[in-house]
Amino acid sequence: MVKKAESIRFDYNNMMSVYVGAKEGLTDKDINAVKAKAAEAHAYFKANRGTGMMGWTELPYNQTEIVKDILFTAKKIRRKCDAFVVLGIGGSALGPMAVFQALCHLRHNELPKSKRKAPKFYVEDNVDPERMASLLDILNLEKTVFNVITKSGSTSETMSQYLIIMDLLKKAYGEDASEHIIATTDEQKGNLIKIAKAENLKTFFVPSGVGGRFSELSPVGLLPAAVLGIDIKELLKGAAFLDRACRKGDIRSNMALAAAATQYIAMNKGKNISVMMPYADSLRLMADWYCQLWAESLGKAVNKKGETVYAGQTPVKALGVTDQHSQVQLYTEGPFDKVVTFIAVDKYRAEIEISDGCEEYPSVSFLCGHTLNELIACEMEATEYALTKNERLNRRITLPEVNAHTVGQLLMFFMLETAYAGAMLHIDTYNQPGVEEGKNVTYALLGRAGYEEKAAELNARPEKNPKYIIS
Ligand code: PA5
Repeated sequence: MVKKAESIRFDYNNMMSVYVGAKEGLTDKDINAVKAKAAEAHAYFKANRGTGMMGWTELPYNQTEIVKDILFTAKKIRRKCDAFVVLGIGGSALGPMAVFQALCHLRHNELPKSKRKAPKFYVEDNVDPERMASLLDILNLEKTVFNVITKSGSTSETMSQYLIIMDLLKKAYGEDASEHIIATTDEQKGNLIKIAKAENLKTFFVPSGVGGRFSELSPVGLLPAAVLGIDIKELLKGAAFLDRACRKGDIRSNMALAAAATQYIAMNKGKNISVMMPYADSLRLMADWYCQLWAESLGKAVNKKGETVYAGQTPVKALGVTDQHSQVQLYTEGPFDKVVTFIAVDKYRAEIEISDGCEEYPSVSFLCGHTLNELIACEMEATEYALTKNERLNRRITLPEVNAHTVGQLLMFFMLETAYAGAMLHIDTYNQPGVEEGKNVTYALLGRAGYEEKAAELNARPEKNPKYIIS
């Protein structure tokens, strides 16, 4: 049983007109007006959870055997390798990166092996040739395991990386190359599963009803986390805890529903931007993960009835306090088009006192005796106050501390919020048709068979006018 004190908290006071002013703020009347819609979205969610592309809802509950296999495999990897490299992109990369950043030492890769107690960790989520070359410069292949992750099993970026790495491994180790690669993919569909069988690769499956950006609690995220020594059972327990806490269709008690409903109202009031601003370096990449989840799930041209809606809210990542010196001027005085989400931490995993000194400079020495913990908390409070005073909508999610349980809760919170918001917008939360065109054109440009028509369409586009190119 998790104590209430260990639960994450969601505070949306500063979304409300009482605090942020009547012009921009939400009223109880606004909330009451969407109550039925929110309850409907929740009922839809409840009726469909675990089915179709909502298989992610059951991941905290249905992976006992898989978790055993993951822990067994992870133990073997930890014993034999110095580096663990994820090859993946989008939902196959952002979750593993976010959880690594949240739950491992912030300078994990730089720690000596004796302190690290887990392999170094790299996630290669780009095909920049310089990045790949630099990775190959530092890896000792002999002591490296690669985890190629692609749900579709055919993403060009990931498969290119796979081809390069497998070639190197085969040249170095012949038939033993497969010892160095683990595949995580769909059990039935795509090329990777066929390749994995042919090459005899150890394979984990992404359940068919779990899309990329909702897959962090599947083997996509669990294997890398287990290799890093993260308590994956606790991560799943945290997700289950939050899921259970959100079982009611009532905004006043279901925090993810309250979050979705208030964002929905804000979107209707023209708040087109959602800024995610953790005040903890450990949660910096959680904002990246959130950005993909919110953007790809809600950014849709049409709703389920086929009506043009151009739905969505542009997510922006920021880091407190760093971006106070970069973005906050805009958030405080720029257009009234944002909702800022602060992520706070009650208890950091370190406490550092600011040393005495500079007594002759009172405007410096006032800091002495305080801690960095106090400074970061005060700066968040101050920024929150400044935004609120300037009538800028903001809300706060607080983690008692950053641990596997609260991170599991946070992941589930954002996935539920996204699912509810998608249901309130009546859009398909789980597709991404806008990404397909770019993929198809890439295939045409690279001469993939079957894309000749797309290549012809591309060749027929108007030539670029040199008048608009300056060098
Ligand atoms: O959320 C999604 O479905 C996408 O962002 C995918 O994660 C991304 O395109 C990578 O896909 P795949 O895992 O099939 O390689």
